[in-house]
Amino acid sequence: MLNASALQHGVALPRAFPSYPQLLAFLLIIPLINATATYAQNRAYTTPNAPLLGAAWYPEQWPESRWDADLALMEQAHFSVVRIGEFAWSAMEPSENHYEFAWLDRAIALAARHHIAVVLGTPTDAPPAWLTSQYPQTLRVDESGNRAQHGNRRQFSYSNPLYRRLCADIVRQMARRYGHNPNVIGWQIGNEYTDESFDAATRAQFQQFLHEKYKTLANLNAHWTTAYWSQTYSAWSQIPLPAHGGNPGLLLDHKHFVTATWRSFQKNQIDTLRPLITSSQFITTNIGGLAWSDNWDHYAITADLDLVSWDNYVGQGHLDVPKNAMLNDFVRGWRRQNFWVMETQPGSVNWAPVNNALSPGETRALAWQDVGHGADAILYWQWRSALNGQEQYHGAIVGPDGKPNPIYPEIQQLGAEFTKVRSALAGTSPLANIALLHTYDSRWAIDLQPHNRNYEQQQVLLDFYKPLENIAESNGGSVDIVDPTTAQLNNYKLLVAPSLNVIDDTLAAKLTAWVKAGGHLLLGPRSGMKDQFNSLNQQRQPGPLVPSLGARVEQYYALDRSVQLVSPSNSLHLAADSTAAIWAEALSPVSSDTSVNLEYIDPQGWLDHQPAMVTRSLGNGWISYLGTLPDSATLDRILRHAAQDAGIDSTSASPNGIELCRRVSGDGRRSLLIVINHTSKTDSITLPARYRNLLRRQEGPPTDRLSATETTITLPAQGVAVLVPEAQP
Ligand code: GLA
Repeated sequence: MLNASALQHGVALPRAFPSYPQLLAFLLIIPLINATATYAQNRAYTTPNAPLLGAAWYPEQWPESRWDADLALMEQAHFSVVRIGEFAWSAMEPSENHYEFAWLDRAIALAARHHIAVVLGTPTDAPPAWLTSQYPQTLRVDESGNRAQHGNRRQFSYSNPLYRRLCADIVRQMARRYGHNPNVIGWQIGNEYTDESFDAATRAQFQQFLHEKYKTLANLNAHWTTAYWSQTYSAWSQIPLPAHGGNPGLLLDHKHFVTATWRSFQKNQIDTLRPLITSSQFITTNIGGLAWSDNWDHYAITADLDLVSWDNYVGQGHLDVPKNAMLNDFVRGWRRQNFWVMETQPGSVNWAPVNNALSPGETRALAWQDVGHGADAILYWQWRSALNGQEQYHGAIVGPDGKPNPIYPEIQQLGAEFTKVRSALAGTSPLANIALLHTYDSRWAIDLQPHNRNYEQQQVLLDFYKPLENIAESNGGSVDIVDPTTAQLNNYKLLVAPSLNVIDDTLAAKLTAWVKAGGHLLLGPRSGMKDQFNSLNQQRQPGPLVPSLGARVEQYYALDRSVQLVSPSNSLHLAADSTAAIWAEALSPVSSDTSVNLEYIDPQGWLDHQPAMVTRSLGNGWISYLGTLPDSATLDRILRHAAQDAGIDSTSASPNGIELCRRVSGDGRRSLLIVINHTSKTDSITLPARYRNLLRRQEGPPTDRLSATETTITLPAQGVAVLVPEAQP
């Protein structure tokens, strides 16, 4: 029987596949992996009474006589939070320095009477018309040199000092008024930082940013290799703001500049808020781009916040279960903490090519999956569509007549369920001893020059994530996705880096020390090709990790067809039809103790019999390099092998279609399981011991239940159960 000690020290692993009930026994017995691990390093906001349910509400769009009816409907749906104000600048400051907050006072007070707390948005994503007409220099300029006009949102220049001063003014007024309001629990800065500006003043700031970074032009010219195409700069003012491509060093630094500029845009507001608000109010921003956009470095921007929140939309189609799991884990990795879903769709959106609705039950399953992966609040966008404005077709909870839409009862059910699980969920988080490594420098470096247009990084990450998440799930754990340059790595047993393209000397030293101390590191294709200036590493891949790996990449190839993979002496037990596609690197050991785990078979081709994967023991751990993208069965096999070697049981698989998400309290003593049937048919699982289903209904069909005396739980399509061990108070 596997036990906690085995999980922690990697010994006594069972060789035979345990049955599924055995597996679930592990979930019950293992109070597990050191729970304090990766969540203790930031100033963390803990959401009281999580999970919270709510919506974006826009009282400024409706007659005040309507507010009470809206809030009463929300209360009946068990809402505990609304986000308001993030687009209400013209209502708060109708003309310069003339403020009107009485309506907002009344809206917040009325929400309190309905037991609904408020997150206040600073309205800086949508400056009012008086501002943009009086100060047109605050309007952003796009890549083609066109200045934005009023009539949309996001029309401001993020770097403009005057705009920032005007933002600080309105934020100061709000903070003075609501910074100690007991019904305001937090602040959202702006809304989905999105558009950069390409105006002349921003270009000058970019040049100044480079000057501070490189100190001398000779240094910049050397790192960017500007001798190429006669790009050498002899004055800082010659350096362009790259709108349409350019030198890879310049492009990577522009991403750094965009990150720094949004960070200082945000900091301007944090610094205004912080001295005027109570320490119990959190500061966040809602991150858009479906979490994956790479306009700026999300680890850097969220480092200055108390709480991460993101906007989780499915858009066209239906819930993609592994992808949504991965995106939530990705978001959790930004600060290695639980997070909020600040916006999600009540059925449908208005911006996809086809704005279909999620099926009945799917909106609820999506919310529970988010909670299972670390969400502490779910807020819908939006409560009710404005009668006019650009988003009339977006999904909403009530219709234009103010009466509930068909989605309302499903969200109401969710609200009732959230109230039932609160005490069990308090202080719990997903827990991981496996991490995927991800950095924005690597993302940017590859996307600037993909070399094969089929090398899609989200898909590559998902391909690696799926088997690892399955391994983690069957051990009662989760997968973290973290930036290795800043994250503590000590509590992980296995690190997998699918496309860690940029590895500098500092990161290489950190990873090498971690491996020597007993960690297991699997580098994926394209790792270590570049340094932090987006220059080619002269050692070839994986750059400064070549001495640790005892091998290097001889040549990389973009594949226009698949090639066969074999494992010498079949140590990986590969199927005969194993293949690799899209990308292939031929490796070459440079150290006698580096072993070859995989080879390509490519008759008459460059890759024939070249190593595709190598491994070397280093100190108490090992380091491997996989130079290609294998088919899913082969990748599953490789990753299970890697996990097993790292002391993580990978011999069992979690069941298809039913997802088990485990959250554990900080002291490791309490846990709960969120079980979701993502299939379209009723299905059952048998548990090894007795749990209580906190969502158990007394009446209705015999589904969605766990009887007190049996251990089989039957869930209908999209059914959810929240289980706590029977012995747990
Ligand atoms: C974004 C914005 C919201 C709204 C929604 C619609 O997430 O933050 O204001 O426009 O999209 O899906």
